[in-house]
Amino acid sequence: MGQPQQPEGAEVAAAATEAGTGATGASATRPPLRVGMVGYAFMGAAHSQGWRTAGRVFDLPLDPVPAAICGRDADAVREAALRHGWASAETDWRALVARDDIDLVDICTPGDSHAEIALAALAAGKHVLCEKPLANTVDEAEAMTRAAEAAAARGQVAMVGFNYRRVPATALARRMVAEGRVGRLRHVRVVYLQDWLVDPQAPMTWRLRREQAGSGALGDLGAHIVDLAQYLTGERLAGVSALTETFVRERPLPGGAARGLGAASADPAATGQVTVDDAAVFTGRFPSGALASFEATRYATGRKNALRIELNGERGSLAFDLERLNELQYHDATEPGEHAGFRRILVTEPEHPYLDAWWPPGHGLGYEHTFVHQARDLVHTIAEGRRPDPSFADGLHVQRVLTAVEESAGKNSVYTPIAADPAAV
Ligand SMILES: NC(=O)c1ccc[n+]([C@@H]2O[C@H](COP(=O)([O-])OP(=O)(O)OC[C@H]3O[C@@H](n4cnc5c(N)ncnc54)[C@H](O)[C@@H]3O)[C@@H](O)[C@H]2O)c1
Repeated sequence: MGQPQQPEGAEVAAAATEAGTGATGASATRPPLRVGMVGYAFMGAAHSQGWRTAGRVFDLPLDPVPAAICGRDADAVREAALRHGWASAETDWRALVARDDIDLVDICTPGDSHAEIALAALAAGKHVLCEKPLANTVDEAEAMTRAAEAAAARGQVAMVGFNYRRVPATALARRMVAEGRVGRLRHVRVVYLQDWLVDPQAPMTWRLRREQAGSGALGDLGAHIVDLAQYLTGERLAGVSALTETFVRERPLPGGAARGLGAASADPAATGQVTVDDAAVFTGRFPSGALASFEATRYATGRKNALRIELNGERGSLAFDLERLNELQYHDATEPGEHAGFRRILVTEPEHPYLDAWWPPGHGLGYEHTFVHQARDLVHTIAEGRRPDPSFADGLHVQRVLTAVEESAGKNSVYTPIAADPAAV
């Protein structure tokens, strides 16, 4: 294993790390939480933002230190370290995991490497944050959950990166459901709509290859909405009936570097096979009897990142749209019909989740703040020795749902039950 590389010009970050002042520069008294992150593209950038900012906005019991970033290309990872403020760079995740100056490994790579990195990191005594979906298969997710349970007994924390739980409006919706403001639930209606594959000439990416991504829109977008539905209701899905489809089965290979969810350009001379679903549509049952419907697609022309959820209960309804993420719609069915109706709650008051540390009311937050909140919550979980939320067991249950969706879709939508006790792996 090579020596960690110091990115040129990273003296500031390195000096801060040595002084124990980490990302915040605020306190030399709080113990550091030294983070090593694997992957530095989309999620790597978003998580960097989270680690850099959490301690500057929130009073944290530990000081997150962006200690090391890891990628396979030496030049690119050095550049990423500089851009995102990491003190050192590694080109092999095994070297990162082996370092005794790393407390937490943050996994921001495609799903095919989640299990291997997480298992090694837990075995090495690190806390772990793993991007969603937890793994590419139920077997992997079970092994990860077993390892996380064993590590928890040693005081380690392993959390999954379902960041949409950390939007203030969704966290408020969860609180309102728990307070009984929706009452007995009847319907959970969720869609996650993107459109970056509408063009049949949009190039291949790892997201369209089963061996790397596990599944397509299902594991990418469906994982988020299954988790969010379960989080908001406080219940786990009992079974599903599903359809999946791959609309375009062959695409040009990328002609240049990756950009966002896809690649910047296509190479018209060469093509690759799409081996995942493009869209998944499924219904499900919650143990309480509530019915759920889900749609995850990359072909919703004109919809960019439309995660929408609506809950209907005996006492009221809640509705959320990620494209208007500072708002929560609420209908209180106990109000006289004359005045009742959906009203908009602008979720920017200091009483709302996470908002006491941010800007004055009406000065909204955005997508990136979910990663700041994720870092904040994880730091508290570690410092306070609590169980993580969402845990690897929660991620495993989502994986079971994804697998049940694929099984059901393979059998003409036959209703497919999901194991009730995912903790027993
Ligand atoms: N929470 C969210 O909202 C959200 C959004 C997008 C992606 N994701 C998840 O985040 C993960 C990463 O997705 P992304 O969009 O950042 O992908 P990406 O393609 O933008 O970045 C992947 C990174 O992983 C690196 N990488 C791949 N294999 C590696 C290995 N073996 N060792 C070291 N580095 C390796 C790549 O070089 C790249 O830096 C996936 O699990 C994805 O599902 C989550």
